[in-house]
Amino acid sequence: MAAVPVIHPDNQRTQPMTVERTLAILKPDCVRKNLIGEVIRRIQEAGFRICALKMVKLSRQEAEGLYAVHQSRPFFEELTTFMSSGPCVPIVLEKENAVADYRTLIGATDPAEAAEGTIRRDFADSKGENIVHGSDSAENGRIESNYFFPEHVIVANA
Ligand code: CMP
Repeated sequence: MAAVPVIHPDNQRTQPMTVERTLAILKPDCVRKNLIGEVIRRIQEAGFRICALKMVKLSRQEAEGLYAVHQSRPFFEELTTFMSSGPCVPIVLEKENAVADYRTLIGATDPAEAAEGTIRRDFADSKGENIVHGSDSAENGRIESNYFFPEHVIVANA
């Protein structure tokens, strides 16, 4: 008789990974370079599900609110000028381990330091104009998502 594989209880995952949400923003340089489709293709190919998506042109004030956490940084003016310079595409993404996996997919803030094959390495020009934004924690993902989308329009997309 063929041996039946036995899963030992110790090998079973006791803690299922939690589904997380993160906010991606396809920045004005991504839109200007006609890369919306290519970047979304890579995001979906990596297993992320889209829960909300739109195109919006931020006012200077809205960009300052979004990036308020960076208010005291020397690059704040450059960042908010750039983020309000043209339309961008905020997207709420869902996946197990979404925050970390999305940051791996996009690469380091500075494209010169980003790993090969990442979105920023392939398409970004500089630290400032770096194609995409990603939340740095699940909590900030929720806050940033709600900056663009009230909770009731975010669709659980399992
Ligand atoms: P993002 O993921 O949108 O979060 C904050 C942004 O600040 C970051 O991507 C960069 O685009 C920007 N940023 C960080 N460091 C610098 C810098 N030294 N000069 C200009 N922009 C920066």
